[in-house]
Amino acid sequence: MKVTVIGAGNVGATVAECIARKDMVDEVVLIDIVDGLPQGKALDMAESAPIHLFDTRITGTNNYADTANSDICVITAGLARKPGMSRDDLLGKNASIVKSVTEQFAAHSPNAIIIVVSNPLDVMTYVAYMASGFPSNRVMGMAGVLDTARYRSFISAELGVSVRDIQALLMGGHGDTMVPLPRFTTIGGIPLPELMDADKIDAIVERTKFGGGEIVKLMGTSAWYAPGAAAAEMVEAIVKDSGRVLPCAVWLTGQYGQDGLFVGAPAKLGRNGVEEIIEVPLSKEEQVMMDNSSVHVRENLEALQRIQSA
Ligand code: LAC
Repeated sequence: MKVTVIGAGNVGATVAECIARKDMVDEVVLIDIVDGLPQGKALDMAESAPIHLFDTRITGTNNYADTANSDICVITAGLARKPGMSRDDLLGKNASIVKSVTEQFAAHSPNAIIIVVSNPLDVMTYVAYMASGFPSNRVMGMAGVLDTARYRSFISAELGVSVRDIQALLMGGHGDTMVPLPRFTTIGGIPLPELMDADKIDAIVERTKFGGGEIVKLMGTSAWYAPGAAAAEMVEAIVKDSGRVLPCAVWLTGQYGQDGLFVGAPAKLGRNGVEEIIEVPLSKEEQVMMDNSSVHVRENLEALQRIQSA
């Protein structure tokens, strides 16, 4: 198994390292346009292998020929948020970067599965889908795994319970309109509302929605540890053909009332990428939130189409 990570910035390098440390694939290729950066980071990671004890080979390159015949690709290329910026402010610039890297990658690995991490996430996943020409089961976006990880970490801290026992579902776009679902959040099988007051749940849901921005505000740039770990978890589900059910940005064709849009929903991941999109009935209120979030994603998509036709 060969995995390519596009973009050797903080997120890309963390994805590559997390994948290597799982010792589950033969090879990770880190690619970037900056000469020396992917080579240097890859070499540094390779030199950590005797300490972390993994046999995955890591190389860095500026040449897409070296990514040929990859099984999976994680796209992290693009600009990151600075303080005061929303993910949406990155739209035009990141769309041309994601389009270009996807075309170059897909030409060398026509059978791969693509996981998009670049922001604004849901629209960039659409851009990669169009640019690759791949079927929709082989293109997905990483957002829900990160957003639920943040949500679960806050619940763990509040209740003083192990993160291992917290399961959660979150849907919608990767933005301030994302939809954490307390009704589908459990602690050791116990629904969250049984263990936490509504006020506290609301505060945690709000903190989750702005979780990315909280970090940008603290350190002046976007997060990478949790985003990198989240993308690697999706890669692992595909590599191991595990059938894990994870919230991902997936191509919806009527599910949850959304049609012709990449947006977050629970998906079963395996060797074919998105093996199944799982549908559960939403309450009226949850459906309204899902609709609002999807409207926001669609507005972004339309804004991109305006930029591109201008
Ligand atoms: C975040 C970026 C990766 O949520 O979107 O931190």
